[in-house]
Amino acid sequence: MAFVKVCTLDDVWEGDMEAFEVDGQKILVVHLPGGDVRATQVECPHQQGDLTEGLLDGTSLTCPVHLWEFDVKTCQGINPKHPTLANYPVKIDGDNVYVDPEGDTPKFAHS
Ligand code: FES
Repeated sequence: MAFVKVCTLDDVWEGDMEAFEVDGQKILVVHLPGGDVRATQVECPHQQGDLTEGLLDGTSLTCPVHLWEFDVKTCQGINPKHPTLANYPVKIDGDNVYVDPEGDTPKFAHS
């Protein structure tokens, strides 16, 4: 485990998300309503759509390209159900958000 400071909670307000480059990897930090912070992949598992441009509604993130929907809290697909998202370990220390970019790898699911 190698946690890297990615941002502060002021950089990604509750209900918002932002992409960061961490050790050469693009990681999407999502600050869920209620305060949970998740870190996942920027590119959609389907055809690499930019999830940063997706719609975040509660814990649901919808890809803008073909509208696949994911639960960012669990990193599981909602529609369709089979794809998953990377779930990078997150640590909060005060206002600082740390992510372990080696804690997972981007997922792919082409159908
Ligand atoms: Fe995201 Fe197709 S690229 S749903």
